[in-house]
Amino acid sequence: LYVNRLSIAYHGYARRDPMSLLHLAPGRADPYTIYEGLRSRGDLVPTRLGNFVSPGHTVCNAVLRDRRFGVRSSANTGSLPTENQVDMSFLDADPPDHTRLRRLAQPSFSPKQIAGFRPQVEQTVDKLLAKALESGTFDLVSAFSAPLPIAVITDLLGVPDADADRFAEHGAVIGSALDGIRSLAHARRLLAASRELDDVFVRLLTMRRTLLELPGATPRDDVIGRILATEGDRIQTAEILPMLRLLLVAGFETTVNLIGNAVNALLDHPAQWRALCEDPAGLAGAAIEETLRWDPPVQRTARCALEEVELAGHTVRRGQFVVTLIGGANRDPAVWTDAARFDIHRAPEADHLAFSSGIHYCVGAPLARLEATIALQRLAERMPGLRRAGTVRRRSSGLIRGPIHFPVRVAQAA
Ligand code: HEM
Repeated sequence: LYVNRLSIAYHGYARRDPMSLLHLAPGRADPYTIYEGLRSRGDLVPTRLGNFVSPGHTVCNAVLRDRRFGVRSSANTGSLPTENQVDMSFLDADPPDHTRLRRLAQPSFSPKQIAGFRPQVEQTVDKLLAKALESGTFDLVSAFSAPLPIAVITDLLGVPDADADRFAEHGAVIGSALDGIRSLAHARRLLAASRELDDVFVRLLTMRRTLLELPGATPRDDVIGRILATEGDRIQTAEILPMLRLLLVAGFETTVNLIGNAVNALLDHPAQWRALCEDPAGLAGAAIEETLRWDPPVQRTARCALEEVELAGHTVRRGQFVVTLIGGANRDPAVWTDAARFDIHRAPEADHLAFSSGIHYCVGAPLARLEATIALQRLAERMPGLRRAGTVRRRSSGLIRGPIHFPVRVAQAA
């Protein structure tokens, strides 16, 4: 039971993934070949279990923006029973709850707020790189791309320094759930980590509420401050912990993969890595954007029809799912010239769907872009001679794509 609950909880995005539909062999097969196979059968393909899957940009974008589709549907009899689900706040809510809760979180992640965070991100990147440089050979994931988003989101959520290390440790354990739960011992570690994370949040909330009760206190202008300012009014007490969990998990299980996928793609395309190293400040943003299109960290999501919808020549009945293959949509040849080619110099032709589309468009997109761009820029500035020092091992999840083990060394620039 725990194994089930945990894998459901921490697959976050997987919760609305009525899959095994595609019978992907995670980690082994190249998902892009599978998407092209599906594409040859059309933009909307019925699945054996009575749902649909789409590798097409137009259909995916339309479904994600269509209010006749939702993430949660009482109409869906095949969905997981509610008591088995762990509340992932507004990621798993439809309007009006989605609108109410998202409005509380979004201002803290606006491009303007996030731009103000740049110095802290730069400092964290520099600290991690300085440490990595001491050794010459290091694991890009465990030494750099994983600790960065954890440190940043910890700062952003206002987790006190005293708790930050434990917070990061538990976060890493929870992230490991994406690759499946390997044993009962692993499940127990996950459960313990998730309980301790909740404890950290509960202590943090108690501290912040106590501070608010002091005479003359004003709510602090940060994520938790904004949430607490409307507690009991726009957000119920029981909704706070799920929202913090969502911000935490969404914040550090994705950006780590974006940085890893970017470096991996660039080392596979040495001329583009060299171009980046010649102009890191000018090209890092474009390289991140092309990685988001070409090898997105979140490979798919899904929506459930809330009513009957005619779509791409098919009737999607109420309760049926459409799995939107982000990784497929982002390489749709109807939208991008030479779509399968990685090219950081590419002219923008359409919006990729790496951060989804419509009302669930990723709240953390400005933060993810800032972190990943600074990370890549600094890597290119400091380590132009970066090379692989062994085999890159990918996560085995078919849903979240990125390296889990990425040995690199810093050689002299060629
Ligand atoms: C939603 C991707 C980083 C917070 C989403 C969705 C995607 C996504 C695809 C929508 C899922 C759907 O439509 O069903 C990514 C990627 C990231 C990233 C690829 C990094 C490269 C972040 C960060 C945060 C964050 C740093 C910060 C806290 C959220 C939240 C939602 C969300 C709160 C729910 C939005 C809603 O349901 O309205 N993300 N994300 N994400 N993301 Fe991100």
